[in-house]
Amino acid sequence: MRVAIIGSGPAGFYAAEALLKRDDAVVDVDMFDRLPTPYGLVRGGVAPDHQKIKTVIRVFASTAARPTFRFLGNVQLGRDVTVEELRRHYHQIVYATGNEADRRLGIPGEGMARCTPATVFVGWYNGHPDYRQAKIDLSVPRVAVVGNGNVAVDAARILLRTPAELEKTDIAAHALEVLRASRVREVFILGRRGPAQAAFSSAELKELGAMEAADPVVDPGELAGCAAESTGNAETDRNLKILRSFAARQPRANARKLHLCFLVSPTEVIGDAAGNVVGLRLEKNRLEARPDGTFAARGSGAFEILEVGMVLPAIGYAAERITGVPYDEKARVVANEDGRVVDPLSRAVIANEYAVGWARSGPQGLIGEHKRASAQVVKHMIADGAGLAARTLPDRDAIVTLLRERGVQPVSFNDWKQLDDVEVVRGARRGAPRDKIVDVDAMLALLGQN
Ligand SMILES: Cc1cc2nc3c(=O)[nH]c(=O)nc-3n(C[C@H](O)[C@H](O)[C@H](O)COP(=O)(O)OP(=O)(O)OC[C@H]3O[C@@H](n4cnc5c(N)ncnc54)[C@H](O)[C@@H]3O)c2cc1C
Ligand SMILES: NC(=O)c1ccc[n+]([C@@H]2O[C@H](COP(=O)([O-])OP(=O)(O)OC[C@H]3O[C@@H](n4cnc5c(N)ncnc54)[C@H](OP(=O)(O)O)[C@@H]3O)[C@@H](O)[C@H]2O)c1
Repeated sequence: MRVAIIGSGPAGFYAAEALLKRDDAVVDVDMFDRLPTPYGLVRGGVAPDHQKIKTVIRVFASTAARPTFRFLGNVQLGRDVTVEELRRHYHQIVYATGNEADRRLGIPGEGMARCTPATVFVGWYNGHPDYRQAKIDLSVPRVAVVGNGNVAVDAARILLRTPAELEKTDIAAHALEVLRASRVREVFILGRRGPAQAAFSSAELKELGAMEAADPVVDPGELAGCAAESTGNAETDRNLKILRSFAARQPRANARKLHLCFLVSPTEVIGDAAGNVVGLRLEKNRLEARPDGTFAARGSGAFEILEVGMVLPAIGYAAERITGVPYDEKARVVANEDGRVVDPLSRAVIANEYAVGWARSGPQGLIGEHKRASAQVVKHMIADGAGLAARTLPDRDAIVTLLRERGVQPVSFNDWKQLDDVEVVRGARRGAPRDKIVDVDAMLALLGQN
């Protein structure tokens, strides 16, 4: 069997692991990624001050070391290779392309400079090549981060950490430089629903109380509507306990402040005549019970203006549309039923094509959760794949020849290891685990490929 996996994030690697561990069949896995570097959001999303989480790449590297695994980095599906070509060269295809687009607030002023989606901000501080030239101007004292998820918490923490806390991490050098000169003193995390509906995990929330030079601030009034007894959800109970402890704290006089605000929705990003963000118009919300027992935010008609010089919407991600890959417009993922790719209209299964990870389910879930989920999809692949291997395919190297003929230089896993070594040596100079190379051309030049 020969399988193409498109995307080298956690979901792609866990699918590869499950395929390569099969003892009933020899499977050749070619893993493509549009970047020369593997690991998806583990490299380009997970916060630099969360180094421990990134150690999962050791598991992925051991999968990559298996003899029938091959990495073809710097190859983008839809640009460098088509779905039709993959169908000719592989028995099965797995789309593990993640969610690389951001969701928009859809309010006036959102396109203004210094209203920067979290995708851009996160990609910028993590050295993702797409965002290395993003204009991040931290010359303003107050920033609003919209959303009550873990990405909002990450973004706020990175804005408020001291350079000393960040320089020993793998934060991109360009971001560290801008953060060193940052004038940000106050960050406001804005939730449209209440504290009991917030999506942050308690470990992330708790960490906000342990920053070197910034303190969380919670107005006790924000928690007034939350009952003292258990909500029935252990994570929510932990979050409320942490928020209550923040509300009881006296922030240090000289500390930067992180305000956690609830029940507000942005309705307009306000700019000055020069097009600079100067504020965010907010509508106060109230909670409305839905028939299923959950709560929706409803505008109360009362408005206020929060003076901020920058807005970071962190309200979720969505899958990019890739030419030739069936796309579900509503869910904004690869059209699929339980991981089997389907035609988005008829919902008929498209044989031998699968989706895993965020490409399959949307932007929810932690890295470890993809192990079981990808293995489940591999079970479908095995069930569907009986007899498939009898189909004769072109020689395994023919895909590389095809790519080279069109001027695409695939980056192998050994090539990546060379880049990895360079990054680690560069990082050691500032006592960091690595100093990322952020420019694809520079990576290819280092590999002698351009
Ligand atoms: C900011 C942020 C921080 C996070 N922090 C944590 C954390 O601390 N702990 C945790 O457990 N989880 C964290 N998560 C969640 C975790 O990162 C995701 O659950 C996981 O990465 C999703 O895996 P994936 O393989 O589906 O997608 P991704 O990791 O996004 O991988 C997708 C891969 O596909 C490639 N690709 C995309 N399009 C193409 C194409 N057309 N051709 C070729 N390749 C393509 C991309 O380059 C990428 O390498 C975080 C998420 C975000 C957004
Ligand atoms: N350290 C970690 O473990 C870590 C770090 C980062 C990310 N992750 C994971 O990655 C996934 C994605 O995280 P995420 O933070 O992007 O998404 P998320 O957890 O889904 O949170 C999105 C937030 O945006 C809010 N929102 C959505 N639309 C909005 C709108 N129009 N106006 C105002 N607010 C809006 C949501 O509010 P509602 O609830 O009201 O919809 C929610 O609070 C999650 O599974 C997360 O746990 C984990």
